[in-house]
Amino acid sequence: MKSIVSAAGAAATLAFAAPALAQSVVSVKVSIDQSAPGPVIEPTIYGHFAEHLGRSIYEGVWVGEDSDIPNTKGFRNDVLDALKALEVPVIRWPGGCFADEYHWRDGIGPREERPVRINTHWGWVQEDNSFGTHEFLDFVEMIGAEAYVAGNMGSGTPRDMAQWVEYMTSDRDTTLTRERKANGREEPWIVKYFGVGNESWGCGGHMDAEYSSDLHSRYATFVKVDPGKDIVKVASGGYDENFAFTETLTRDARPATTGAISLHYYTLPTANWEKKGSATGFPVEEWSSTLWRAMRMDEILKDHKAIMDRHDPEKRVALYVDEWGNWYDAEPGSTPGFLYQQNSLRDAITTALTLNIFHRHTDRVKMANIAQMVNVLQASILTDGPRMTLTPTYHALALYKPFKDATPYPVRFKAPTFRIGDHALPHVDVSAARGTDGKLWMALVNLHPNDPAEVRTDFSGSASGQILTAQEMDAHNTFDNPEAVKPAPYAGETRDGKIVFRLPAKSVAVVSID
Ligand code: AHR
Repeated sequence: MKSIVSAAGAAATLAFAAPALAQSVVSVKVSIDQSAPGPVIEPTIYGHFAEHLGRSIYEGVWVGEDSDIPNTKGFRNDVLDALKALEVPVIRWPGGCFADEYHWRDGIGPREERPVRINTHWGWVQEDNSFGTHEFLDFVEMIGAEAYVAGNMGSGTPRDMAQWVEYMTSDRDTTLTRERKANGREEPWIVKYFGVGNESWGCGGHMDAEYSSDLHSRYATFVKVDPGKDIVKVASGGYDENFAFTETLTRDARPATTGAISLHYYTLPTANWEKKGSATGFPVEEWSSTLWRAMRMDEILKDHKAIMDRHDPEKRVALYVDEWGNWYDAEPGSTPGFLYQQNSLRDAITTALTLNIFHRHTDRVKMANIAQMVNVLQASILTDGPRMTLTPTYHALALYKPFKDATPYPVRFKAPTFRIGDHALPHVDVSAARGTDGKLWMALVNLHPNDPAEVRTDFSGSASGQILTAQEMDAHNTFDNPEAVKPAPYAGETRDGKIVFRLPAKSVAVVSID
């Protein structure tokens, strides 16, 4: 039995996930200010991150041409199809921490001749480099995504970095481009984004901000593409409420070296790296602490943006949240260092809340990459041998597809709060935008684990779309039951001539207004 206290202070003792118990319906009035559109929601805020970590690339994406698992040129078909259906806009690769140990030459040429290394960051397992530059760039082309390649500033040289970029992107006749052609790729690829190192304050070299900024300028200076082509150079930035990197990198940014600065923020239910909390079977206090910590993203962005605004009022440099998501204790019995975790309705709710936050910061946040794409951390897809399941996070991302390239509007509402344990949360959250289809789209989230909510609008029409919800707060899909959590049709109601949404507890709905 858990104690849940409403904003009004009335204490109710509820058995979690016991829908038969009395529920109070909170009513929230929303209005959408269509006179104040914000900068467009870049599709790239729905980006993914895929690292050489655990079963993310190997097994998750790449099974090799000789595998019994149905594949196209070595990429598993079920995952290809799922990512195509999700319309993934951009993928960041090969790390993460792995990026600052990776030498691109290890991953080109005949696969049987590629060197075998040890992945010292993630489980000290063998890395046979069978998935390298050609495989990654072919893969993103196959699913129609853009490539965000993370270079090695930690243990590589500026020359290595410059040559990798030339190998991938140049159409000049050089020894490197001839080598690319000999390896099977005639045309250069389009690499739109290039990361200069990763977490240089940590696994990327344990540097301080001043040193890292100098090093960034040096490396980035030599990242060049053919005249007439563009590449966005991303500086390895800060994390959480650590502002030194944002401050220094924005201060030192030059047009030739810095198009964007990265920011990493992970949500841990307990905020304790030693005992983060379980992906499923968690207490209701970890429902609220997880949602609360995920919503910290808003303040974190405000604070990093305020620093950037001081140094860069023209907003020339973008902020890329190129790693975000929920990080739990690894599944019992899974390989240590592989960061494999289940994914539940709670993850779908924090996905929606985070995307709503990104919609409010489109002036500066131009890309975000959920960590990670397959089989690692807050994954959209889980695989087990030949089997695959789509997670609640996948379904939440899919619901939000109409927001890509949409024009966001400020939404005014005053949601009552409720408290569970140490954390007070708003009962509902709402985002709205005008889609490229000309329709008004709304995303509505009910954060309460037990109580429904009613969202009353001040406009008429009809509203229909899809909803994601379940009875249990840790409802999740398994390989034996892959459709326990999946979107269902959903519609608003009309009352007194206005649209009203009845939102079940712990739900996310995305609707268009006609
Ligand atoms: O996503 C897992 C790891 O988290 C990444 O490799 C690193 O950049 C971050 O600390």
